[in-house]
Amino acid sequence: MILMIGLRVLHPLDQLNQTVVNLIPTTPIVEERPFHASRKRVFPQPHTQEPNPIFEAYGYCNIPNRTEQAWEGHSPADYKLLSVHVMIRHGDRYPLYSIPKTKRPAIDCTLSTSRYTHPCHIMSHHLSNMAMPIAKLAYSSVVQHLRNGQLLHHAYKQHSLFPSDWSPRQIWVETTGKSRTLQSGLAFLYGFLPDFDWTKLTVRHQWSTLFCSSACDCPARNRYLEEEQRRQYQLRAADTELERTYMDMSRTLGLPTRQLRAANPIDSLLCHLCHGLSFPCVPIGDSGAGGCLTMEQFAVIRRQQLDDEVDRRRAGLYHKYAILAMYPYLNRTAAKMERIAKSSEAGRQPRSGGEEVFTLSSAHDVTVAPLLSALGLEEARFPRFAARIVFELWKSPPTIQGQVKKRGGKGEKSKAKYGETFIRVLYNGEDVTFHTTFCRPHDRQVSQPLCPLKNFLSFVRRDMFSVVNATSYKEACYRRPG
Ligand SMILES: *[C@@H]1O[C@H](CO)[C@@H](O)[C@H](O)[C@H]1NC(C)=O
Ligand SMILES: *[C@@H]1O[C@H](CO)[C@@H](O)[C@H](O)[C@H]1NC(C)=O
Ligand SMILES: *[C@@H]1O[C@H](CO)[C@@H](O)[C@H](O)[C@H]1NC(C)=O
Repeated sequence: MILMIGLRVLHPLDQLNQTVVNLIPTTPIVEERPFHASRKRVFPQPHTQEPNPIFEAYGYCNIPNRTEQAWEGHSPADYKLLSVHVMIRHGDRYPLYSIPKTKRPAIDCTLSTSRYTHPCHIMSHHLSNMAMPIAKLAYSSVVQHLRNGQLLHHAYKQHSLFPSDWSPRQIWVETTGKSRTLQSGLAFLYGFLPDFDWTKLTVRHQWSTLFCSSACDCPARNRYLEEEQRRQYQLRAADTELERTYMDMSRTLGLPTRQLRAANPIDSLLCHLCHGLSFPCVPIGDSGAGGCLTMEQFAVIRRQQLDDEVDRRRAGLYHKYAILAMYPYLNRTAAKMERIAKSSEAGRQPRSGGEEVFTLSSAHDVTVAPLLSALGLEEARFPRFAARIVFELWKSPPTIQGQVKKRGGKGEKSKAKYGETFIRVLYNGEDVTFHTTFCRPHDRQVSQPLCPLKNFLSFVRRDMFSVVNATSYKEACYRRPG
C-alpha cells in the first residue's frame, strides 16, 4: 500500500527554522576529529561497575536538552558519499498501557511548561493541516526527530547527496501504519530537508514492524521467538525480588498482582520519569491500599530488565530470531547498495530519475533492537526514543595501481583502477562499523580504513545464516525443527 501525502501547507517554514535553530547547539559535528575515531559510548561500560538502572532509564528518555555528537558523514578525504539508509525508532510517546486506578500522565504539547513547547506547536499545526491528528506522541518526540534530521542535514550537507533537481525516486520513505512512526518520519524529514518539496513525497506503508515486505513468512523465526519468550518468562518468574516488588505495588494500588503485570507498569513509569513527573499515587483507603509507587520499585523492574538483556545474549535465541527477522530488510538494503555501487562505475549510463540515494525507515523498538542484534551489535544499548541506525555507502577515489615514481623522466605505465565501495554503520551518531559481525577488527585491513561493501553483501547473502546452521533464508525458515 502506498500512502500519498500531498504536503502543501507547510508554512511558515521560517518560523520553524528559527525556533529550531535556537534549539540545536551549533557544534554537533566536529570536523577536526579523525573520521574513524570510534569510541564506544553506545556500549555500556563493560564490567567496571554494576549499571545503575535509573541512570540507564534517563538515557532511554533521550531528553532533547543536550548537544549530541554525530559522526555521520565522516570519511577519508576524497571519498564520495553514494547513499544513506536510515532506520529510526519513533520518538517519545504516551504510554501504550496505563496502570489501572491511576491517572494517565498529563503530557502533551499544550500542557508542557518546557521551553521545547514551541516547535511542537508548529509541527502539530502542520501535521493537523495535513489532516493527521497528533496522537500518542509527546512534544519531545517531534523535537527529537527534528534534531535527528538536522544533525544529518549538517552531516551530509557538503557531500551533495542529492542533485538540486532531485527526483522523487531518489528518496524512499517507509513507515508502519502507526501515527507515531509516520509523524516521527515526517519530523525527521522536516529537519533533514528544510527546503523540501513535500508535494513530491511518497510514503510507503510497511504493514509489519519487521519491514519484511513480501518476505515475512518464516516459521522458524516464530519458533525462536516463542523459545525466547519462554526464557524471558522463566527468568522473571525466578526473580524473587521482582515478585516481591510487584506484590508491594499491587498492594499499594489495591489490584491483583496479575492485573498489574498485565498492565506493563514499566512503560507508564518510564513515561513519568522521562517527563519529570512523580510516580502515580492512589488515595489511602480502608483496605490497606493507598500511597505512591516508588523509585525503588522502578529500579527493581529496570534492574531485572538489564539482567534480562545479559541472559538474552547468553541464550542466543534472540540473536537467531533477529537474523531471520531482519534478513528481508537487510537484503533490500544490500540490493540497493549494490545497485548504486554498480551505477557509480565509470562509463555507466545513469538511470533516468536517478538511484535511490536516501532511505528512511520509521520504525519501532521491535525493529531497531533485532536489527542491532542481527548486525552483531548485541552489546549496544536498547534503542531509546528516537534512536537511529545509519548505513552509509562510500566510494574511494580512483587509485593508480602499479605506479612507479617517475625518475629521470622515465615512468612506468600506470593502470587506472576504479574506486572501491565501502560501508559505514552508525548507531546514535557513533561509528560502530568495526563492531559488526561482518567487519570485526580481525578482518580489518590496515590499508583500508573503512569496511568493504563486499563484506556486508556476503554477510547478508550467506554468512549471517551460519548462526542458524543454514546458508539461506529459505533453508533457515522452512527447515523442519529437531
Ligand atoms: C537533561 O535532563 C536530564 C533529566 O532531567 C538531566 O538529568 C540532565 O542533567 C539534563 N542535561 C542537561 C545538559 O541539562
Ligand atoms: C533478496 O534480494 C534479492 C535482490 O533484490 C531479491 O531478488 C530476493 O527476492 C530477495 N530475497 C528475499 C527473501 O527477500
Ligand atoms: C546443520 O545442518 C546440517 C545439514 O542440514 C545437518 O546435517 C547438521 O546436523 C546440522 N547441525 C546442527 C548442529 O544442527
